[in-house]
Parts: sequence; structure tokens; C-alpha cells
Amino acid sequence: MTTSFTPGELDDDRVGAFAERLFGLYTDGLLTLMIDVGQRTGLFSALAAGPGTSAELAARAGLEERYVRECLGALTTAGIVDYAADGGVYTLPAEHAVCLTGGGSTDLAPMSAVVTLLARQVGPLAQVFRDGGGIPYEAYRPEFTTVMDGMSRGLFDDQLITGIVEPAGLAPTLTAGVAVADIGCGTGHSTNLLARTYPRSTFVGYDLAGDALDHGRAEADGWGLDNVTFEPLDLVDLPSDPPLDVVVAFDVVHDQADPATVLRRVHDALGPGGVFVMMDTKASSRLEDNVGNPFAPLLYAVSTLHCLTVSLARDGAGLGTVWGEQTARRMLADAGFTDVTVRDVPDDPLDSVYVARTASARAMASR
Ligand SMILES: C[S@@+](CC[C@H](N)C(=O)[O-])C[C@H]1O[C@@H](n2cnc3c(N)ncnc32)[C@H](O)[C@@H]1O
Repeated sequence: MTTSFTPGELDDDRVGAFAERLFGLYTDGLLTLMIDVGQRTGLFSALAAGPGTSAELAARAGLEERYVRECLGALTTAGIVDYAADGGVYTLPAEHAVCLTGGGSTDLAPMSAVVTLLARQVGPLAQVFRDGGGIPYEAYRPEFTTVMDGMSRGLFDDQLITGIVEPAGLAPTLTAGVAVADIGCGTGHSTNLLARTYPRSTFVGYDLAGDALDHGRAEADGWGLDNVTFEPLDLVDLPSDPPLDVVVAFDVVHDQADPATVLRRVHDALGPGGVFVMMDTKASSRLEDNVGNPFAPLLYAVSTLHCLTVSLARDGAGLGTVWGEQTARRMLADAGFTDVTVRDVPDDPLDSVYVARTASARAMASR
């Protein structure tokens, strides 16, 4: 199908502006891949160590100079790296180095790998657009495991305890010693950080992905933790006996095939006065509210390329990444949670933290 327009129908300036925007988008897409190459190869770390020529930087990172020079051409013309023609020296400004190296929640370089990972699914995705169904989680592995870990590890290191657990009022409970499950724990870095910080509590990390759980076990062993285990489990089978005191779920609920059942199982696994901490995407459930949210296009695109389709692959609800606060609150209430508060996550504009409680023993007794 071709589109035809009568002469004068189009505003040429708008056509030009939009075409320019498209070139900009494609350029940014390719630059994202250059950033992924830079972080995988150690080029950014070499740049962060100090200015250098392409030969010096290549030697510093143990890379082929010709590739390094070409990649630096892209990064220089994009304004990511500064270049002094006199001497052929490249410099990564300190403000850029903070965002591209060093780990922690300000290091955004690992996130570039999401684009690389999801781009591989464009062909299969076009097929399910036509045929229905979805792309299963397994199609994204094993790379998904390390990419997801790279995205969340720095945030957990910097904010899990002080930016998420403590503002939720959970520190005294966890310090005293309670039973906790981290559902959809992935590589279990969050589980291990919690277990290390609160040695009197016991932690179990559940996930479907055996390779991710192996990472969690290896880290726990390395840290000498004896209060954490990792077990394969489909979350729709979350046991309610023995009861848990706290359940945490980081970036997990929206891509479930059956999120209503998972939330109900979480509710039923928690005893009276139990607490569910759910980190999930920060958005409205209404598209019109998300127009103008600079992060919304990213969330909808990640949804289409991953979160929505992995749910539909299991004949699931297909909530999508942008299920939004209104739907999340409704589903938490439907699952039986009585008291829900929502907070921002420091250093993370993409997520909110929901703290949902089950009814207290006293409230249940008075019913
Ligand atoms: C987006 S990742 C988040 C991983 C981790 N919480 C983090 O923040 O790094 C979602 C995780 O949930 C797991 N998952 C998805 N559906 C599941 C299910 N039904 N049962 C168990 N795990 C599930 C996936 O294997 C994946 O590791």
C-alpha cells in the first residue's frame, strides 16, 4: 500500500523536521550499540583512566587500534568523547565518565546492552504480530540473565537498603529476623545484599531460570552467607506454608503470564501484617497521561519487545511494562492487600516502589 498526497497538502517544513528526527533516532540507535561495544570491551574504562591517543587507549584496553579509532570517531562526532586534533588525543569528560563507568546506580552503560539484546527479536516479533502468541523467555537467554543483572546490580548496590528497604520502614523487622522471599530474583544480587545486611533473617530467592539461580548461589557462597537459598519455582506455585513475613519483587510482576494469581499467592503466603515490596515501572495506566513522560517510549518499546510478548507466549494476561499505577493498585487490592503506598526509587526514574500490607491479625480477628 502506498500513500499519495495532493500537491500543497503537506507542510514541507514538518516533513523535513520529521525526516531529520528519524535520522536522529537511527543515529542514536547505532550510537547505543557503540556504547554497548565500549562497555563490553573496556574502552570506556580505558578512557576514564585518562586522555590518550587511539593507540594508547587500544593498548590500555588490550584492543585492536583500528576498531578503537573508528568507534572513537562515532563517539567523538556524537559529543560523547572530546578530541584534540593536535596530538590526536581523546578525552572522556568526567561528567560522562560518571555515567558510563564505575558501576553503581549512575553507571548507565550496562543498560545499552538491552537494545542489543532486544534487537535480536525484531524478526520473531514481526512474526508474532502476524500470527499471535509470543516469544518465550528462553529465547532471550542466556544473554538476558547477564544483561538484566547489569541493569539492576548498580541500583541494588546503591539503593536497595537505603533507598528502598529503609524508606519502606522494613529495617527494624528485617534486623529482628523474619522469613523473606525474593520472587523472580534473577541472579539473586538483591537477595544476597539483603541476606548480608540482615543476618538474622532468612531469605529464599525464587526464579524459573536455573542459570540465573546459579549466579545467586555462587555469589552467596563467595560472600559466606548461610541465611539464603535459591530455588527454581514458577511463581504461580508460591507456597503459603510456612508463612512468609516479607516478599520482595523487583521488576517481576508486569511480565507474568498470570499476574493476578501470583499476587494472590504472594498475599496468601504472607501472614497477618505481612509486607509485600514490589518495585515496578513508574507510569500511568492511561496512555494519554504518559504522553510527555520522557521515559514512556522506552517503557512501551521494552514492553513490545520483551515484557508483553513473554507473557503472551504463555497464553498470559499480557499486562505489559506500562500496566501503570492505577492497574497495579487495583490488582493489589483484588489480591487482598489492604494498605498500599507508592514511592519513587532514588536514582531510578523508571520505577516506583509499592509497599503493600496484608490485614493485621487484630483486623482479621475483628471481622
Ligand atoms: C525482569 S527480570 C528481574 C530480575 C531481578 N528481580 C532483577 O531485578 O534483576 C524478571 C525475572 O522474573 C523471572 N520470572 C518471570 N516469570 C516468572 C515465573 N512465572 N516464575 C518465576 N520466575 C519468573 C524471570 O526469569 C526473570 O529472572
